[in-house]
Amino acid sequence: MDSSNSFFWTFAYDFIRGPMVWAAFIVFFAGTLFQVFRLLSFTKEQPISKLTPGPGRFIPKKADDKGKKDWVMWLKLSIAGVNPFMTIVSTIFHVLLIVMPIFVLGHNILLDNSFGVSFFSLSESVSDFLTIIVILCVAVFLYRRLFLDRVKAITTWSDYLFLSLAAAPFVTGFFAYHQVFENYRLIISLHILSGELMLMAVPFTKFVHMIYSVIIRLTVVSEYSLGRGNRTW
Ligand code: HEM
Ligand code: HEM
Repeated sequence: MDSSNSFFWTFAYDFIRGPMVWAAFIVFFAGTLFQVFRLLSFTKEQPISKLTPGPGRFIPKKADDKGKKDWVMWLKLSIAGVNPFMTIVSTIFHVLLIVMPIFVLGHNILLDNSFGVSFFSLSESVSDFLTIIVILCVAVFLYRRLFLDRVKAITTWSDYLFLSLAAAPFVTGFFAYHQVFENYRLIISLHILSGELMLMAVPFTKFVHMIYSVIIRLTVVSEYSLGRGNRTW
């Protein structure tokens, strides 16, 4: 490797580990705030008397026998009743996607070194096991997109791109931890870069569903409202 080349790589490595981490977090938090306010500006508050819940909205009745039957019917018709396997896979995937980065030991060591604070850390073997679970969940999503006709029909190249982007921090984190490739520095840089790209993509790509799905369900009245939404489009 000539010296100009190694200068480039040293610069790239320092940039990815330094300023770009800050940039990623700033874009993520500022972008999230922007999207929250943007969404609220698309909707407006209505007096409760003017709101009609959508036709499918479940309104729990008293806990008598009939009430219980309503719950069972509601559950059967929900996505959990129609496709329990995918509900479980997707729930595990999403919980781990959000929880893992906070509790991985490697991340907490970095936090401690930089700011003197850290969260509780999972043991390395538990993190490693959960990382494999996330990768398996992604494999299930990928299998459906490639081989199930009804999923394939609505899949475009961008779905593969975003699935890869969500998987990349886990695959590269796994490779880094196991030192699968000789060049640890390269793999850990790819890991950090993929984590940063994923964070920055959240407010501005289809990952924005993380923000919208929560806000819409909590504020906008519809058959899927959580709680008593008092806004309409
Ligand atoms: C943005 C900056 C990030 C930095 C600086 C960073 C840094 C690190 C470091 C130093 C390790 C330890 C590797 C080792 O033990 O050799 C690690 C592991 C890991 N990271 Fe990150 N990471 C970042 C983002 C992310 C994100 C966004 C995710 C997931 C959404 C993620 C998921 C993981 C996982 C799951 C492991 C453990 C893999 C295993 O034990 O098999 N990281 N990361
Ligand atoms: C509170 C946060 C979130 C909620 C409520 C949520 C909800 C959902 C829902 C309802 C789906 C569609 C059905 C399904 O596959 O289960 C979905 C799919 C997906 N979500 Fe999220 N999500 C959240 C956060 C995230 C984040 C942070 C990411 C990645 C950065 C992400 C990545 C994905 C991906 C890649 C899929 C598509 C999987 C496929 O290819 O079928 N989600 N999410």
